[in-house]
Amino acid sequence: MMRMLLILCSMVLSLELVLVTSVNPSLNDDVLGLIVFKADVQDPKGKLASWDEDDDNPCNWVGCKCNPRSNRVVELNLDGFSLSGHLGRGLLQLQFLRKLSLAKNNLTGSISSSIARIDNLRVLDLSENSLSGTIPDEFFRQCGSLRSVSLASNKFSGKIPETLGSCSMLASIDLSSNMLSGVSPDNIWTVSGLRSLDLSDNLLEGGIPEGIAGMKNLRGVSLRKNRFSGLIPDGLGSCLLLRSIDLSENALSGSIPDTLQKLTLCTSLDLHGNLLTGGVGDWIGKIEALERLDLSGNGLSGELPISLGNLQSLQVANFSRNGFTGALPQALSSCKNLQSLDLSNNAYSGHIPSWIMGPNSLKSSLLDKEEVAAKYASPIASSAEGSLQKLQILDLSSNSFAGEISSDIGDLTGLQSLNLSNNSLKGSIPATIGKLKALDVLDLTANELSGSIPSEIGDANSLKELRLGGNKLVGIIPDSIVKCSALTTLILSQNNLNGLIPASLSKLANLQMVDLSFNNFTGTLPKQLANLPHLLLFNISHNHFQGELPLGGFFNTILPSSVSDNPALCGAAVNKSCPAVLPKPIVLNPNSSSDSPSDSLPATPGHKRIILSISALIAIGAAAVIVIGVIAITVLNLRVRASTSRSAAALALSAGDDFSQSPTTDANSGKLVMFSGDPDFSTGTHALLSKDCELGRGGFGAVYRTVLRDGRAVAIKKLTVSSLVKSQDEFEKEVKKLGKIRHSNLVALEGYYWTPSLQLLISEFVSGGNLYKHLHEGSGGNLLSWNERFNIILGTARGLAHLHQMNIIHYNIKSSNILIESSGEPKVADFGLARLLPMLDRYVLSSKIQSALGYMAPEFACRTVKITEKCDVYGFGVLALEIVTGKRPVEYMEDDVVVLCDMVRGALEEGRVEECIDGRLQGNFPSEEAIPVMKLGLICTSQVPSNRPDMAEVVNILELIRCPSEGQDESS
Ligand SMILES: *[C@@H]1O[C@H](CO)[C@@H](O)[C@H](O)[C@H]1NC(C)=O
Ligand SMILES: *[C@@H]1O[C@H](CO)[C@@H](O)[C@H](O)[C@H]1NC(C)=O
Ligand SMILES: *[C@@H]1O[C@H](CO)[C@@H](O)[C@H](O)[C@H]1NC(C)=O
Repeated sequence: MMRMLLILCSMVLSLELVLVTSVNPSLNDDVLGLIVFKADVQDPKGKLASWDEDDDNPCNWVGCKCNPRSNRVVELNLDGFSLSGHLGRGLLQLQFLRKLSLAKNNLTGSISSSIARIDNLRVLDLSENSLSGTIPDEFFRQCGSLRSVSLASNKFSGKIPETLGSCSMLASIDLSSNMLSGVSPDNIWTVSGLRSLDLSDNLLEGGIPEGIAGMKNLRGVSLRKNRFSGLIPDGLGSCLLLRSIDLSENALSGSIPDTLQKLTLCTSLDLHGNLLTGGVGDWIGKIEALERLDLSGNGLSGELPISLGNLQSLQVANFSRNGFTGALPQALSSCKNLQSLDLSNNAYSGHIPSWIMGPNSLKSSLLDKEEVAAKYASPIASSAEGSLQKLQILDLSSNSFAGEISSDIGDLTGLQSLNLSNNSLKGSIPATIGKLKALDVLDLTANELSGSIPSEIGDANSLKELRLGGNKLVGIIPDSIVKCSALTTLILSQNNLNGLIPASLSKLANLQMVDLSFNNFTGTLPKQLANLPHLLLFNISHNHFQGELPLGGFFNTILPSSVSDNPALCGAAVNKSCPAVLPKPIVLNPNSSSDSPSDSLPATPGHKRIILSISALIAIGAAAVIVIGVIAITVLNLRVRASTSRSAAALALSAGDDFSQSPTTDANSGKLVMFSGDPDFSTGTHALLSKDCELGRGGFGAVYRTVLRDGRAVAIKKLTVSSLVKSQDEFEKEVKKLGKIRHSNLVALEGYYWTPSLQLLISEFVSGGNLYKHLHEGSGGNLLSWNERFNIILGTARGLAHLHQMNIIHYNIKSSNILIESSGEPKVADFGLARLLPMLDRYVLSSKIQSALGYMAPEFACRTVKITEKCDVYGFGVLALEIVTGKRPVEYMEDDVVVLCDMVRGALEEGRVEECIDGRLQGNFPSEEAIPVMKLGLICTSQVPSNRPDMAEVVNILELIRCPSEGQDESS
């Protein structure tokens, strides 16, 4: 029955209800009104569950408070109940309601004009909802008993209704944080009973009338963040009870009226962010109760008055962003309650007065005090201990202060934030900074500070922000920084700091911003930096860092600009892969050899231009010793080149058709030895070294093909090193030793010819051409299959293993020295020739085999490392990678050199090594073979010789790698 009645009531209410009481005179109006209110809103948290329509009265309902005698609701407080929906008219039924508070809900829609017409309502708080629309004019028309209204933090728009001025009983009005606009009605400045007026954070405009003088009861006024313009009315000074004035962030102009001196109760004066001009008069010292004074962000100028010293309660003083000049009033030092002093962005110059820094220098301020006392006839703290002992924030930034930072700074032990940035301070950072145990922020950016960062900085262990950028600091980052465990921001950019980054930096787990750019830092970055969980910025650009960037964490996404200009840095972010071990492989200039190595490197137009970048590469990658080695090689190489040119010229003559005639005497006095016992090729001599039969040229000479009398084809190598070879005896001894070496993967040496000026080596002729041609000159679409490639790798390894077993080092492994038989079997050629040279001088060696570009083990350039057969393992490693990838060991780009093993190593680290495999195979390879082969290649190219396996091991590994299922070639 009650429910039906309610439905009826809802209808009736909207017809300005009259009938209810007559339907049931005993029914409580309040129950009815509240139930209707409840029906209009959503109550997602069930806060109104106790509101039961069958109750006789609502006095036990949550949020309701009744007058105990009448049982009528006098207060409804539903703050923060998460109610949403519209504010219905049910509440109009609550005729005895004195206080209605619905703050902090999600109510929407506009407000009914009659809600303020609840006869006895005194307090209405609808703040922090989403109410919108204009505030209806009728809202305040019969505001009768209303004392306090807050519509703050909603979405009201339009003008403030003029009717507000008629609410003579109103003591407090808060319309802040809406979107109210237009000129505020004059009559609101005449509500004489008003104690608190808050119109802040709206879009109101116009001036503040002199009539404000009539608001004799005003205690607090905030017009903050509007568009009020014009002068601050003199009349404001007549509101003698004012305690808080906030006119900030408007467009008020003119000077600050000295009538404000009458406001002796005022504790807070905030005029910041206006267009005020002129000076601050002595009168300011009369507002003795002032605790907060903010005049920042205006156009004020002149000197601050010494009467400031009279403001014994002053806690916060902000004069920043004005044009104040002259001497800082020493009297400020007697504001012994001052916690925050901001004088930043003014035009102060000269030394930072010593009185700011500590009590020691205070005695001299006595004079000032007497002066002030005389002028204002008010007591001044007479004790000399009056000082800025409570100072927590000191900001003198962006002035023109010069001189040094006094070590007395350490006496300001309460200091939490010290900003002296953007001045011209010189000298060093005082070690006493360590005494500032409460210091959060130290900003000394952009001064001319020199010396080093004092290690005492670690004692200021509350530091969160340390900003020392843009100075002339030298030295290292002190290890003690690790004690500043709260540090989030460390800015040291643009100094002359050097040394290593202390590994302990990675223990500062709160670090977010680190800027070390534009310094002289060196060394590698501690790997553990990657563990810093909160990093947002880590700028180390423009330094001399080297080695690998930390991997993981923030460093996976570090911006290239944050690491740029560190030439020796490597890692993905700088787009340069890191060698596993420094130094870089030695790459020599291919153009310094006189015999053009046509069989190893096709001359590309870019070559001449890149000579410098190659030496640069060496210089960067190698340690100092190695750089010296490279220079020595180059110098020596020049001499060698000169001599070989001469002999090459001589031989070029004899390489003509009449070879057999002119050097007859030589030929007659010469000695031909065929190891097979049959010196049977003399008749072929005529055909012998004609250009047409030239097979190729290498570091030791040109190779020609000829046919023996028995029809057997042989290859003849004419040594171009004749002026260097040993005596005949020694030459023959060595050649005979080489001649004994027989292996199916080694080109057999069949004989030799000797005269003092001409030496020939006769060896087995291999018909299938060399591996270089197969790989890089795509001979007739005859692409090597994976199986063929694997066989070549394995065969080569077996050949080398055999050589090493015979104690012979090849010295000159490269793809053009691997010959391929028509069966596909590889044969290693040109081995051991270095033995024919008078001495195994590594420089001569290097110059002879430098055509083996990219295959040469780094120890060739290093005096202190003995050259062993491990140099062949290196060359083999490069060769294996070359075979798998189909790429040359060193590729020359327009302005870059790509070293194959570095590239593969980088790709392996990034998990995309498979992309390196020769694309021409079109995926026709078992990756379970290809990838291990590449890894083996990388191991073989270890920079340290002892880290490389020996060839016998390599053969074993390769045999293991070969997949049994795919191994059709087990026979070999
Ligand atoms: C208002 O509603 C939104 C969702 O619509 C909710 O996230 C928010 O917490 C609510 N606010 C209050 C004060 O209940
Ligand atoms: C002083 O005022 C300026 C500008 O209004 C403000 O940016 C700064 O934070 C204030 N200083 C302090 C210490 O609060
Ligand atoms: C780095 O140090 C070198 C000498 O060690 C010095 O010549 C150079 O000016 C320094 N660079 C910077 C940016 O300070």
